[in-house]
Parts: sequence; C-alpha cells; structure tokens
Amino acid sequence: MKELYSSIYKRRSVRNYDADVKLSDEELAEAEAYLGELKPLIPELKVQFEIVPREQTNCRFNAQYCLLVYGEQGNLWLTNIGYMLEQWDLFLASRNIGVCWFGMGKPEQKERDGLSYAIMLCFGKAKEQDFRTKAEDFNRNDVENIWSGLGDEKLGEIVRLAPSAVNSQPWRVEQVGKSFNVYRQKGSVPILSAQLFKRFNKIDMGIFLCYLDIALEECGYNFTRQLGTESDEGKRVLVATYTLD
Ligand SMILES: Cc1cc2nc3c(=O)[nH]c(=O)nc-3n(C[C@H](O)[C@H](O)[C@H](O)COP(=O)(O)O)c2cc1C
Repeated sequence: MKELYSSIYKRRSVRNYDADVKLSDEELAEAEAYLGELKPLIPELKVQFEIVPREQTNCRFNAQYCLLVYGEQGNLWLTNIGYMLEQWDLFLASRNIGVCWFGMGKPEQKERDGLSYAIMLCFGKAKEQDFRTKAEDFNRNDVENIWSGLGDEKLGEIVRLAPSAVNSQPWRVEQVGKSFNVYRQKGSVPILSAQLFKRFNKIDMGIFLCYLDIALEECGYNFTRQLGTESDEGKRVLVATYTLD
C-alpha cells in the first residue's frame, strides 16, 4: 500500500465536478479493475461493488458515477469496508479522479446476493487544481489530541490527515513503548442521528487503519495487528492493537 502514500497529501472530497471533464472508458476500466486489488482487513468477509451512473442514485453532487458497496455482515464489517475503499479513494486521486464518500446515499437495493448495503461513494474526473497540495490545506485535529505516547512524529502527522464523516475524526491512539491501541471514541453530532453517526464512525475507523498501515510502511515499521471489535459497549471501543517489531 506504500504506493498510495503520496496521495494522502493530495486527496480531498470532491463534490463539484466540471461537466466538461469526463472519465474516459480506459479510466473507468482502470478504476473498476482496482477494486479487485484492494487489500481487505478481514479477508473472510465478502464485499461486492456496483458502479452506476450517478443519476440512478440520490447523490446530490454532479459526479459522473457512484460506487455502491455491499458487504457480508460480521464483526468489523463496516471497518473492513472503510479500510478497503479508502485505498480506492487514494488510488483515484493519483489519477485525478475525484471521490466523495456519500453517507447519505439511499440505494434502491438494500441487499444484493445476500450482502447488505454499506455505503456509496461518488466519483468523476477532476482537475489537478481540485486536489490538495500540502498538509496545511487540511482541517484536522493536532496529533497531540489523537495520539498519546506517540513515538514517531512522522507517523502521527500522516495518520491525522485521514478523512471521516463530518470530519469527526473519532480515532484515539494510546501508545506504550512499541505497542499501541486504536480506539473509536464515541460521540454525537447534531446533524446526524446517533445510529447513523455510529455507523459512519465504524467506516471512519477502517479509513484510519488504512492510513495507519500506509504510514507504518512508509516509516519502515514491521508490525503485527490484533483486531478488536465493532460492538458498542463502553465509552470508547478498542478497534485494534498494534505491536511494532
Ligand atoms: C463514512 C463517510 C461518510 C461521508 N458522508 C458524506 C456525505 O453524506 N456528504 C458529504 O458531503 N460528505 C460526506 N463525507 C465526506 C466528509 O465530510 C469529509 O471526508 C470530511 O469532511 C473531511 O474532508 P476531506 O475529505 O475533504 O478531507 C463522508 C465521509 C465519510 C468518511
């Protein structure tokens, strides 16, 4: 996943697309093919994708297409989907294809081949100037607010740039020596129901783990990861424990 590193400083949610700029057939085919390359967090959980013209969805942005994501329900299934699709988001940024996660998507089909609808992402051809160029362009928490006991400044500066629903950044990391726990901090926002916000935050945690794995690779760490849970017990939820070699 290291090849996705440079896209971290480039990607942004693209919500406004220039109608004169379209994806070529080759670009669409490459985007679709990359879905088959995504690395899962939990290989046992089935995931399926469908690309449809955006007009067939309730997405209100003028993107050319939407990707509908369906998955097998199981522990951390939404986190797994966040982990996988963030790779796609970053890859498409490298091709000047803009993406926006669209949590408010309402699919016509809630089930498909026994899998449940998880999330929608809209995408379309964008221009170089639609993307970011530097870390200063991001509105994110400072690293001190998300990671205690951080042993490597660069690692923290990369992962803090991860996107999340309503920019809620629900991740908290606690490090002691070579081991750290990644938590989902529970919270609420006035504009979303508690149920929806919780669901999005589970996807956000997968996005964060994707950034974390890219950052660990970029910084030269080998690690083992033990996954936690997507359950809703307690004030914050242990999603993963990492141990650096
Ligand atoms: C799970 C998820 C759901 C999202 N849903 C929406 C949405 O429904 N509408 C929207 O405009 N943006 C949505 N976003 C985009 C976030 O608002 C955006 O990623 C965040 O504000 C950070 O901004 P950036 O992506 O430009 O870095 C969503 C993001 C995630 C991760």
